[in-house]
Amino acid sequence: MSEKKQQVSRRQFLNYTLTGVGGFMAAGMLVPMLRMAVDPVLQPSAAGELVNVKIAVDDLTNEPQRVDWKIDQVDAWYESKVDKAAWVYKDDNGDVVALSPICKHLGCFVSWEGSEEFPDQFYCPCHGGRYTKDGVNVPHTPPNAPLDVYETKIKDGMLFLGEAKPQGEA
Ligand code: FES
Repeated sequence: MSEKKQQVSRRQFLNYTLTGVGGFMAAGMLVPMLRMAVDPVLQPSAAGELVNVKIAVDDLTNEPQRVDWKIDQVDAWYESKVDKAAWVYKDDNGDVVALSPICKHLGCFVSWEGSEEFPDQFYCPCHGGRYTKDGVNVPHTPPNAPLDVYETKIKDGMLFLGEAKPQGEA
């Protein structure tokens, strides 16, 4: 009687075999689909790469000038072009300084000498925020932190800019 119990019937054998083969085939189809769905999220971001902003370092002066460029941004499955901008100049030592134009108060765009009232300063038109040439916020104006500073690199005489980071971290 116990011998009879341990025997596998033809029906059971077919069930086991078909379940096993079916499961194997389903896994073979699902794994590539899952990988395709999740892969973009796992890819390292392009953020942090330095980009040639198409300006020769020799053309920079001690007067901040606006530089605009675009970067390709991949956000998981969504690819887009993002506009970037910086205020770039050479400091007294001849070193390149690249400041973010994004106001640290509420994110408006600051301009060099944007107000006739405050020459030699960055000015934010939204709430009258001001920064000195090195990007430090003027006390008693709305911004409570200096402008972010871009990571810079010079290659073959051309300026490359990376990520903008808070001053002190860059
Ligand atoms: S956003 Fe620049 S001062 Fe408010």
